[in-house]
Amino acid sequence: MSRYWSRIVHDLTPYVPGEQPKLPNLVKLNTNENPYGPSPKALEAMRAEVGDSLRLYPDPNSDRLKEAIAAFYKVNPAQVFVGNGSDEVLAHAFLALLKHDEPVLFPDITYSFYPVYCGLYDIAYRQLPLTESFEIRVDDYFTPNGGIIFPNPNAPTGRPLALAEIERLLCANTGSMVVVDEAYVDFGAESAVGLVDRYPNLLVVHTLSKSRSLAGLRVGYAIGHPDLIEALGRVKDSFNSYPLDRFAIAGAAAAIEDRAWFEDTCRKVVTTRTRMVADLEAMGFEVLPSAANFVFARHGRHDGAELAAKLRERSIIVRHFKNPPRISPFLRITVGTDEQCETLVSALREILT
Ligand SMILES: Cc1ncc(COP(=O)(O)O)c(C=O)c1O
Repeated sequence: MSRYWSRIVHDLTPYVPGEQPKLPNLVKLNTNENPYGPSPKALEAMRAEVGDSLRLYPDPNSDRLKEAIAAFYKVNPAQVFVGNGSDEVLAHAFLALLKHDEPVLFPDITYSFYPVYCGLYDIAYRQLPLTESFEIRVDDYFTPNGGIIFPNPNAPTGRPLALAEIERLLCANTGSMVVVDEAYVDFGAESAVGLVDRYPNLLVVHTLSKSRSLAGLRVGYAIGHPDLIEALGRVKDSFNSYPLDRFAIAGAAAAIEDRAWFEDTCRKVVTTRTRMVADLEAMGFEVLPSAANFVFARHGRHDGAELAAKLRERSIIVRHFKNPPRISPFLRITVGTDEQCETLVSALREILT
């Protein structure tokens, strides 16, 4: 704390990212990274960028990447915005599209960055409780609001919301924005991208950190009506005109274009998830239905914090949330390789006996 701090900095409660420990032989299942590497074509494209052109600023509009994304989703490049990780895209969306007189609505159990952005930009918000079974009940959102945001699948629960439910929400909520954060959608949920032409108030946000295995590159994007994209661009150009460097533009475009690598690695993650869920259930865990590259599981007789600590003693790291108390019995476990998940399952068997 310093007298030189602004009032807003005094009042901030920053987001706490999952830890990135630098220990050897760690089984790291705490931040939902992809266990398979990025597309070799993306790596090659990035290597090709090492050279004299680094003297020059990158393309401020990342046109090459926007074109690759537009071609993948069969939309127009004017419907695409790109940023430095989807966190940056989300931050711009809060300022550009979710700051109004009425509060923003999001679930009480969700991505914990949302209230942080509200704090940063002084946006009022209201958290709506998930149901007993940790589902988003769309009807709860049929109320005056300054915008609605939620992840699909939700984080950290992994539970997906059906596209028909999202469309029902869009039909009932034409007066403000609906932002669907699809960070994990490629692991089994239905994307809302196909609805953007029909709903000018829908913004769909994606990341290359999960299904494209490029968390280290920091690239995210949004798809929506060109007017929404223009709003995001106005914030971007009032903050940092060059959020994506030359490596990010080239590597991300090549990763999007390598559909075969993407589909193959997503399929492998989903296959491992099915096996891991069966193993956890056989040990007495209740596992919420997951459409993500992680599962959210609790054991009736053991507390989440205790299990996380015992796994850590065995160099296995998973994520545990103390708050809200309703989720403190749970562990959020990233789906790793088959081998990593087998190590986790054997460790849990040992701990539970
Ligand atoms: C729901 C959700 N949205 C967005 C992000 C941000 O991803 P990134 O900034 O790496 O694109 C995450 C990261 O874990 C997430 O869980």
